[in-house]
Amino acid sequence: MVKREELIDLRSDTVTLPTEEMLEAIRHAELGDDVFGEDPTVNRLEEMAAEKMGKEAALLVSSGTQANLASLMSNAKRGDAVILEAESHMYYYEVGGLSAVGGLFPLPVRGHHGVLDPEDVRESIRPKDIHFPDTTLVCIENTHNRAGGRVVSPNEIRAISEVAGACGLKLYMDGARIFNAAVALEVDVKEFTKHVDNLMFCLSKGLSCPVGSIIVGSQDFVDRARKTRKILGGGMRQAGIIAAPGIVALEKMIPRLREDHTNARLLAEGLARTDGLSIDLKAVQTNIVHLDISGLGVTSDLFVSKLKEEGVLALTMGKSKVRLVTHRGIEEQHVRRALDTIRSVARKIERKRSKTSTC
Ligand SMILES: Cc1ncc(COP(=O)(O)O)c(C=O)c1O
Repeated sequence: MVKREELIDLRSDTVTLPTEEMLEAIRHAELGDDVFGEDPTVNRLEEMAAEKMGKEAALLVSSGTQANLASLMSNAKRGDAVILEAESHMYYYEVGGLSAVGGLFPLPVRGHHGVLDPEDVRESIRPKDIHFPDTTLVCIENTHNRAGGRVVSPNEIRAISEVAGACGLKLYMDGARIFNAAVALEVDVKEFTKHVDNLMFCLSKGLSCPVGSIIVGSQDFVDRARKTRKILGGGMRQAGIIAAPGIVALEKMIPRLREDHTNARLLAEGLARTDGLSIDLKAVQTNIVHLDISGLGVTSDLFVSKLKEEGVLALTMGKSKVRLVTHRGIEEQHVRRALDTIRSVARKIERKRSKTSTC
């Protein structure tokens, strides 16, 4: 069994630990009661986030899931229909919260590698009719998790926003990894955010914070989101403890995402040359690599468990898909070791398969 400290953990960028500077910032954070609006560290982080995103206001929340739910509930009223991508995190992984808690009706639309086609959006908007719920919101995800970290480009967002705007719908972006998108295209993050009404992004993924996500939008929207956060039990008291590392993240951690992208590419290109494995290299645009193992004839559960025995942690993403994510703490040497391990596990499975098939 490989020791815990020797494991190469490629399951998610959420496993990142805070930097020393973040821990210092937590130690020295000026604190107050944030439900009274009196935590200066939270207030500073929210101002910074709004400014960075080119919006009026921002709100610190506990998680990406809470950010999405509070945003949906603040953008649409109970009973409204919401258009979202069929593989999006909100539709796929958030426990159906938008319906179960928010009372919203999802209209899932399949995108092309996670990107909604504006014409499909237009077609899925239900006309005003006594039989239909009001369709009031379109949601996009950037980068798109289940599409392997695919960037939705500013032009693609603009095209969707034109359809949404023309039909009187708002546009919301789950930008959990929006800084990965900005770094990948080498553009200011505002190039993405200027086309959406509001968005959220996560501090607790590639930016290495221990906790937290931020909702950003107009003052009016953020005021509503603040109240919705309270309903969801998300009002926090000395939340400066969470905000302090967030400030470090916004000041220092964004440019280094480039290293994660370089490492993901190195990993993907190495694995693409391995028998039994295949990768869509075009889809590897940020820090996520999706590996198709169908050529090995085993399930992804089995493959992932073999990798774990050899010290590499990965996630299954369906019967024959495996996800690998690069992040702070994963250096080139870890990628090279992971490559050797994954290739060797694949080779062993191949050898076993060819022996059994000749008997
Ligand atoms: C695209 C996207 N949105 C939202 C979330 C939810 O974030 P959290 O795990 O902080 O609830 C995730 C988490 O991985 C995500 O990938």
